[in-house]
Amino acid sequence: MTTFWSWYVTILSLGTIFALTWLIFGTRKGQRQESTQETVGHEFDGIEEFDNPLPKWWFMLFVATIVFALGYLALYPGLGNWKGLLPGYDYLDNEAKTPFAANVQIADGERNGGWTGVHQWEKEMARAEEQYGPIFAKYAAMPIEQVAQDEQALKMGGRLFASNCSVCHGSDAKGAYGFPNLTDNDWLYGGEPETIKTTIMGGRQAAMPAWKDNLGEEGIKNVAAYVRSLSGLKTPEGIDADPVAGKEIFATNCAVCHGAEGKGQHAMGAPNLTDKVWLYGSSFAQVQQTLRYGRNGRMPAQQDFLGNDKVHLLAAYVYSLSQQGAEQ
Ligand code: HEC
Ligand code: HEC
Repeated sequence: MTTFWSWYVTILSLGTIFALTWLIFGTRKGQRQESTQETVGHEFDGIEEFDNPLPKWWFMLFVATIVFALGYLALYPGLGNWKGLLPGYDYLDNEAKTPFAANVQIADGERNGGWTGVHQWEKEMARAEEQYGPIFAKYAAMPIEQVAQDEQALKMGGRLFASNCSVCHGSDAKGAYGFPNLTDNDWLYGGEPETIKTTIMGGRQAAMPAWKDNLGEEGIKNVAAYVRSLSGLKTPEGIDADPVAGKEIFATNCAVCHGAEGKGQHAMGAPNLTDKVWLYGSSFAQVQQTLRYGRNGRMPAQQDFLGNDKVHLLAAYVYSLSQQGAEQ
């Protein structure tokens, strides 16, 4: 905090406290000392008010809050750059050492006695790391296939999935529009355990180009009819589209990524277009929309956020889901 803001905060806080102190003592002086039957003279709906002083206990409560405020501000950092008389808040001196700066370790001794919500959180995280770190590390050293057989590991993976992945992939991991189903053993990028881990660690960015300008409405319509026919879908009545012309367009423009037979390519994240699994919908209108404007699904990278050991467990969990899917 700059000196200006430090003084600003200090003067405003202390000024308010002193003004309130003055107010409460000042108004008390003008009051009579004993209780009385006299009223102050006004009346609302037949209710009148005796002209009595504030009860003493009530007055003392005010005084106590003022004393408390001053004591608190002396002991803890509250007044601008003042660090408080209690030890443990000295680290506030150093901007870089504030707990909010990422990856800064503050020695335990340095913050002893210095209670803040952030310190509390850091301590609990450290304790959790101490307690669970070795369990995560144990699984991280095992091959994913093997972790996927371990009941405790899958439970932990399931909880990690619920808190980090279900917002997009759904609590049952069955996905939603634009978010792939992870249980169906049909993969954009591949379902080998290590590939799943790579996907989660580094994230993925799909790049299906927009074809509006290249192919025109006629071309889009024809190739949409062809692509849908790969999954056995008929072109709706009343739409005049030529899947044979669409097939040619596909061979020239689409096969590079989706493969000559439309079976997809994991290296590109290009989906299999023959398997009846649709990320963006299978209706004629929806497929045309995909072709006109392209699609750019993004899976966010978890490496920096969850780290290797947790992602390892998640990969095992996702792998186990797809294995169950495969057995059905
Ligand atoms: C913000 C939404 C979002 C979150 C959160 C998210 N994902 Fe994804 N994920 C996606 C999208 C979108 C894709 C598809 C990317 C594409 O279209 O190429 C995807 C793809 C994947 C794939 C690849 C599927 C395939 O077919 O190859 C896996 C595996 C995956 N996510 C696992 C996870 C896990 C595990 C988590 C939790 C750590 C997670 N995702 C969190 C949006 C998300
Ligand atoms: C540069 C590679 C590339 C080319 C070329 C390409 N695609 Fe794609 N396509 C992708 C990728 C990657 C996705 C997945 C998009 C996503 O997950 O967000 C995709 C998705 C799709 C989908 C959506 C599938 C679903 O499940 O909803 C359709 C349909 C499709 N492509 C058809 C075509 C057609 C037809 C062409 C040629 C006109 C074409 N693609 C050309 C890479 C490509």
